[in-house]
This record gives sequence, structure tokens and C-alpha cells, in this order.
Amino acid sequence: FGRNIHYYESLGSTQKAAHQLAHDGAPEGTLVIAEEQTSGRGRLGREWHSLSGKGIWMSLIVKPDLPPQKAPQFTLISAVAVARAVEEITGITPEIKWPNDVLIRGKKVVGILTELQAESDKISSLIIGIGMNANHGQEDFPEHVAHTATSLFIEKGEKISRAALIQCFLKYFERYYSIYISDGFKPIRLLWESYAISIGKRIRATTVSGVITGRAIGITDEGVLKIEDDEGIIHHIYSADIQQT
Ligand code: BTN
Repeated sequence: FGRNIHYYESLGSTQKAAHQLAHDGAPEGTLVIAEEQTSGRGRLGREWHSLSGKGIWMSLIVKPDLPPQKAPQFTLISAVAVARAVEEITGITPEIKWPNDVLIRGKKVVGILTELQAESDKISSLIIGIGMNANHGQEDFPEHVAHTATSLFIEKGEKISRAALIQCFLKYFERYYSIYISDGFKPIRLLWESYAISIGKRIRATTVSGVITGRAIGITDEGVLKIEDDEGIIHHIYSADIQQT
């Protein structure tokens, strides 16, 4: 991982470029990094603000020999690797909010977007897009996210080395990926749960088919969130926005 790096000063989106590279046969571990993205994409079709020079905007190509249903697990593997790397580089232990936000003091520092290219019943490539607010100052965030976003610089009070953080992330991603392949998802789930904030708490999940409120009771071995509502019914959530209530 990270032996094959495509670095750009400016790109529309590293995610889009990585999709193209994967489609053209780029090997597993290929990493696309840009100093700046002019049309960075977030989850649920949102825009991702990707200021030049301050963040880490990158997309990693992974080619596991697995069926497409396993793709969501990779969001969680990536979140754990990011959390661990942030911890090692800054000394601050971040929290993970299901499925993919990495937070410090309740504010978002990292977003992860996992996308899939599949052929019949097999993953051909996973494109894992990671956006880290590394050296942003508070004034660098657009107004509508200013009170929900933070950066490693703001939290730590000193600039961090983006290269060191990327390297550290790749080290942990490789480690957790190989644990996952040899021992299955359970060790990853346990690690993930050790960073998770919402488990055991009351949350509201806004899904495409409606809102579910209840207590988050954990994730399944597929990485699916389980919520128990007030009637004791357990809901499996594949994709949603989560708020603590
Ligand atoms: C989220 O909505 O939280 C996910 C944000 C993912 C942003 C990253 S930045 C690098 C990669 N390229 C993109 O266009 N998006 C992802």
C-alpha cells in the first residue's frame, strides 16, 4: 500500500480519478492524493470542502477477493486505521461516529467515503476516499460547517506532518486489512467499538426511508448498525445520518 502514489496539485476529486485508475487496471494499494480538490464529494451526494495545502485529500484502491456485501466493513476498517493513526501522530484519541466520521471533542476531523466497483458477485475495486482536516485554522472552514468541524491543528495547537500521518494511516490500514483477511471482522469490530461514541446511547437515525429513534446497541459483523426502538424492535441500519438525542 502506498507504493504506487499518484500525486496532483489540483484535481476535481481524488475519488473520481481513483475510479478511473481502478477501471484501467491500477493495482491494489494505489493511492491518489491531491493538494486541492475543486469538486470534492462527501457522503449522500454532499459537497466536500477541500482547501488547498491544509488537508489530506486521498483515495485508496483496494481489491479484496470478496462479495460486494462486504464493502461496508471497509469503511469501518478505514475508520479504525484513521483513528489509530491520528492517535499516534497527535497523541489525541479521537472518537468514531458510525459509520465513518472521526471526531475530536464532538467535531468532525475526518470523513470517509467508500465506493464500490463490482462485477457479477465479486468486488473488482473498492475506492476508499478519505478527507482529513489536518492543518486548517478555524477561519478556513466555510460558515455552514464552522461549528461542526475541527482540524488536528486546532485540537493539538501545532501543525502536523501530513506525510507522516498518511504513512501512519497506510501502516495501520495494511495491518487491520490483513487481520481482517486472516481472522475475520470480529477483531476489527472490537477495535471499532473501542473508539465508538454512540453505542449504548439514544440516537436518531435519518435514513432514506424515514427516521428511527432508539438506543444504538452495537454493530453486526457486517458493519451494520443495530438500533433498539422503544418497543424493543431491533432495526438494522445500512446507511443513515446519526444524531445523539
Ligand atoms: C463524508 O461525507 O464524510 C466523506 C467525505 C470524503 C471526502 C474525501 S476527500 C478525498 C476523496 N475525494 C473526494 O471527492 N471525496 C473523498
